[in-house]
Amino acid sequence: MKGSLFLRLFVPVAVIMALCLFILLWIVSNQINSNTLSESISRAESTVEQFKLIRAYYTKNIVATVLKSSDIKGSINHKDNSKAIPLPATMIHDLSTELSETGIRMKLFSAYPFPNRKERVLDSFEQDAWNALNKDPQSTFSREEIIDGLHYIRVAKSDIMVSPVCLACHNTRSDTPKNDWKLGDVRGVLSIDMPIDAMKKNATTVHSLLAYLLLY
Ligand code: HEC
Repeated sequence: MKGSLFLRLFVPVAVIMALCLFILLWIVSNQINSNTLSESISRAESTVEQFKLIRAYYTKNIVATVLKSSDIKGSINHKDNSKAIPLPATMIHDLSTELSETGIRMKLFSAYPFPNRKERVLDSFEQDAWNALNKDPQSTFSREEIIDGLHYIRVAKSDIMVSPVCLACHNTRSDTPKNDWKLGDVRGVLSIDMPIDAMKKNATTVHSLLAYLLLY
């Protein structure tokens, strides 16, 4: 009799506790996951803004001055040319190569590459980002993806024709892929792929800890 009363009390209490722990586990790991993602997205957004700022500074204070007062030219192929410095977009392309060694991938792209990059093929994220940002240029486009076995959050922002200086060059260069750009047009997309495996590990640790508590 005693035993069955104990069982009648213990079993429902244990089941309710297990259920509560499961729900807690689910809420906490979901919360950590979504915090991880939103934190990574805002870090990527600010990295994009920083690169745009550096490019604007480079364009205004270095490229403009050098081109005006010397015979040095802005060029895509500047590396082995002592009379050339990188164009602003070329600087971003070059920096993205350097940055890739740190695990962060940055890319500047569009559906209208210059002839030197015409072999480039956009992947499905890049194609979707290009379409979405053309529809809503002020928005941020992001997606979680696994690339070569690693988790990334991929974040893209538009690169807009903000000044007549952009148009003057993009609409007149002989190698331009399109020459009727207007102010406010989305010329390209700047994207950052942030590795999030380390941050995801935190969520997994909490997950395992709760599972351990639950089982033992
Ligand atoms: C002096 C000429 C010049 C000016 C000024 C200029 N660009 Fe460019 N831009 C280029 C050239 C040339 C390329 C190709 C560079 C390369 O592929 O390395 C390019 C590439 C780009 C790309 C990458 C396109 C792609 O698909 O690879 C974007 C986006 C872009 N420019 C946006 C802008 C914006 C926005 C401005 C104004 C804030 C601007 N550019 C000002 C000449 C210029």
